[in-house]
Amino acid sequence: MPMLEVEKVHVHYKLMEAVRAVSFRVNRGELVALIGSNGAGKSSTLKAIAGSVPMSSGAIRLDGEPIHGLGPEQRVQRGIALSPEGRRLFGRMSVLENLLVGAHTIKLDEPSLGIAPKVVAEIADAIRQLNAGGMSIVLVEQNARLALKLAHNAYALEHGEVVKSGKGAELLDDPSIRKAYLGV
Ligand SMILES: Nc1ncnc2c1ncn2[C@@H]1O[C@H](COP(=O)(O)OP(=O)(O)O)[C@@H](O)[C@H]1O
Ligand SMILES: [Mg+2]
Repeated sequence: MPMLEVEKVHVHYKLMEAVRAVSFRVNRGELVALIGSNGAGKSSTLKAIAGSVPMSSGAIRLDGEPIHGLGPEQRVQRGIALSPEGRRLFGRMSVLENLLVGAHTIKLDEPSLGIAPKVVAEIADAIRQLNAGGMSIVLVEQNARLALKLAHNAYALEHGEVVKSGKGAELLDDPSIRKAYLGV
């Protein structure tokens, strides 16, 4: 059974559909990356999982149990933690959160944006270590190359929809992903 299951989740902001039937799974101990351009719906997807924006339809299950009816605090109690403003990493991961609070100086929503390369490498190492220690993580990261290198599985979002998914290493080699997100 997947630890986290996101099934056909929709998020609307008034009439605007920001997330359209997004589905993905995170197995225990897995690191999953969501990649996509600005406005693709990555943050809205994470917020829907955390319960900080309402989902208009779909299902979110944790260890097989629906959690989409719960409030954000109850989801935190179940171990879902969306990092505070500025850090869109979540999982069972208070350590990383603290680490990123210290590593982050600017109010942007992806871990490496505006951070010196050396610090990015340190964050990447920390994410790797936490994941190796058994933490399940959904990573939203501006640097798609880094995200795909770290991720077991990854999902590319465009206009609120999953347009491609696969192993991180496979997407790193995928011509359309390389063209769209890796600048090659
Ligand atoms: N609070 C909001 N109110 C209205 N529209 C929003 C809000 N948050 C995000 N959007 C819109 O939803 C779409 C998806 O945004 P977002 O989930 O932040 O994408 P990403 O994180 O991939 O950049 C964008 O068109 C964005 O402008
Ligand atoms: Mg975002």
